[in-house]
Amino acid sequence: MKIIVTDSYEEMSAIGAEVILQTVREKPNCTLGLATGTTPLGMYRILIQAFQSGRISFRRVKTVNLDEYVGLRADNENSYAYFMCNRLFQNIDIDLQNTHIPDGSVSDLSAECERYTKLLQSMPRDVQVLGLGSDGHIGFNEPGAPFDGHTHITALDQRTVQDNARLFRDISEVPSCAVTMGIADIMQAKRILMLANGKNKAEAVWGMVRGEVTEAVPASVLQRHPDVIAVFDRESAAMLSE
Ligand code: F6R
Repeated sequence: MKIIVTDSYEEMSAIGAEVILQTVREKPNCTLGLATGTTPLGMYRILIQAFQSGRISFRRVKTVNLDEYVGLRADNENSYAYFMCNRLFQNIDIDLQNTHIPDGSVSDLSAECERYTKLLQSMPRDVQVLGLGSDGHIGFNEPGAPFDGHTHITALDQRTVQDNARLFRDISEVPSCAVTMGIADIMQAKRILMLANGKNKAEAVWGMVRGEVTEAVPASVLQRHPDVIAVFDRESAAMLSE
């Protein structure tokens, strides 16, 4: 695992963006696995600037997202489909037909999980972007999620509901379940780009990098991946130097 500790969120975002830009330059028709949440926002802003200044085109890039809340349609502003459109896709030249996000609003969720697992198998990712839950989750694979799991429905841990409540008007509006890529799906990516910032991630960062590899800390599975670039700010990396 290559670990880069940065002085700031901005620096973390710039290094993350460079990994993505380099991938797209080398392989214009690459497949990117993308994450939502607050962490990658700075990186997405840099990708948008790179496109707007004519330094890169995403015209042939394909994307698959990690997860989506159950019960929210793409036009709901709290859905991850809405987030991706708003924060990235509509600001670059990507073909929306090439972007994929699990649909948490369908009635047959198990068919949706099967469809998404198959889709992932047909779209090997060159880079998978990950954020880190304060409880160690990746995607919405909460503590205890099996390492050999594929796309599935998961109940969100109370801690995740609390962490994500900041983005909703009220905690009662946070969906209790999500559709998520499984850990086995995540591990299929050729390269993993993990970003984390802030002191509330410090414990999870330690568990991911130094802790025992255990399903109790989903991100610890990344110790078994051959090509992980982990970019942390100082606060989130604080426990690594203790
Ligand atoms: C988002 C996702 C989650 C987040 C994690 C961190 O698609 O899969 O695992 O990456 O919850 O969220 P933030 O970045 O908001 O702290």
